Amino acid sequence: MYSEKVMEHFSNPRNVGEIEDADGVGTVGNPVCGDLMTIYIKVKDNIIEDIKFKTFGCGAAIATSSMVTEMAMGKTIEEALKITRTNVADELEGLPPVKMHCSNLAADALHAAIDDYKKRKGGEGEEKKAED
Ligand code: FES
Repeated sequence: MYSEKVMEHFSNPRNVGEIEDADGVGTVGNPVCGDLMTIYIKVKDNIIEDIKFKTFGCGAAIATSSMVTEMAMGKTIEEALKITRTNVADELEGLPPVKMHCSNLAADALHAAIDDYKKRKGGEGEEKKAED
């Protein structure tokens, strides 16, 4: 039912954990099952230099979180924003149709973390402007 890649990421997930001084944090809940995922990013010179995740969800959600962190690591913010729900599932060589909703969480949480990063950065910029 699951591809080898899904099983491999589920058994050996990459980038699990939390970044204490993250530059962006995104948490999303899955409306279908109520599972939760949080992604933390650390950004330097517009590049995602570190990314970690915490997922309270099923095996497919854990495998997709792990995959999305690998896909986003080292990418620019713009490139990372182009990672879609479908890309993540494709990279994992597909997911059973009943599990596709699980893969949505990973891309959504990544996008939420980037939005949070942009908001924080935008706020800083305005403060600087106000000081000038
Ligand atoms: Fe909830 Fe998969 S069953 S994320």
